[in-house]
Amino acid sequence: TLISSTPLLVEARKQGYGIVAFNVHTIEMLQAVVDAAEESRSPLILQTTVGTVKHLGIEYIAGAAKTAARQARVPIALHLDHCQDFELILQCMRAGYTSVMIDQSMHPFEKNVEMTRKVVEVARALNVNVEAELGKVGGVEDDIHVEDDMATLADPIECQRFVELTGVFTLAPAIGTAHGIYKGEPNIDFKRIQEIASRVEVPLVLHGGSGIPEAQVKRCVSLGMAKMNVATELKNAFTLSLKQFFTEHPDNLDPRSYMSVAKEVVKQMALEKMRLCGCTNKA
Ligand code: 13P
Ligand code: ZN
Ligand code: NA
Repeated sequence: TLISSTPLLVEARKQGYGIVAFNVHTIEMLQAVVDAAEESRSPLILQTTVGTVKHLGIEYIAGAAKTAARQARVPIALHLDHCQDFELILQCMRAGYTSVMIDQSMHPFEKNVEMTRKVVEVARALNVNVEAELGKVGGVEDDIHVEDDMATLADPIECQRFVELTGVFTLAPAIGTAHGIYKGEPNIDFKRIQEIASRVEVPLVLHGGSGIPEAQVKRCVSLGMAKMNVATELKNAFTLSLKQFFTEHPDNLDPRSYMSVAKEVVKQMALEKMRLCGCTNKA
């Protein structure tokens, strides 16, 4: 069965590795990252955005994730990414999601605290993980667009106060990464991660995982980032492999052919991200 991501992430932070949370958009993407987790003995967080919840439907996603968890030997959690809608969070928890992100990073601190507290209260009773964001991660994720000059970094003292006030189980502080592919290298404030980690015991979450160079990922993880979100790179790899397939085999119209190719590409990329975060053989 699906389990809460909290114990997985607490263990990851304690041991100094990171668990990768993959945003999946189709059943094949979900199966591909599960295969990667099984093969590499990695704990896994399956993740969907609000857009994907609307696209596939909560029950289809939860159903597929539960099937994966039942068949797999590795622990699997199902997480709702960047959600601003309290009602949708409740629906997802009811359907079997074991982790949710309440994203109020666009609102002032007090409002963020208030909404996060509300979600934590319900989630605690249902043994569901809660993640919240402080500062604003730049870039584009689904319908959330944050221009570079509007992105702000999380304040370490606010992070500490936020965790104390909300009791949130995991925290995503903005530290310089962004959603999407970077122009050049991300400008990560490692000193800030260190300060936040020294004030906050809960596992930290690294957003904007696509495009972060290996050495930087490893440094973030070693400083307390226990979860890394990967969306864009996986989505692009999936779609580009299909594009290439159709160019090379214009007459092959069998979904089982082209989806097998795309699945393998996604699986290989997932394996690589798990290796970067050091979670292989941790399940
Ligand atoms: P990327 O699209 O940069 O991988 O970011 C993923 C993310 O943070 C999802 O919440
Ligand atoms: Zn994100
Ligand atoms: Na990114």
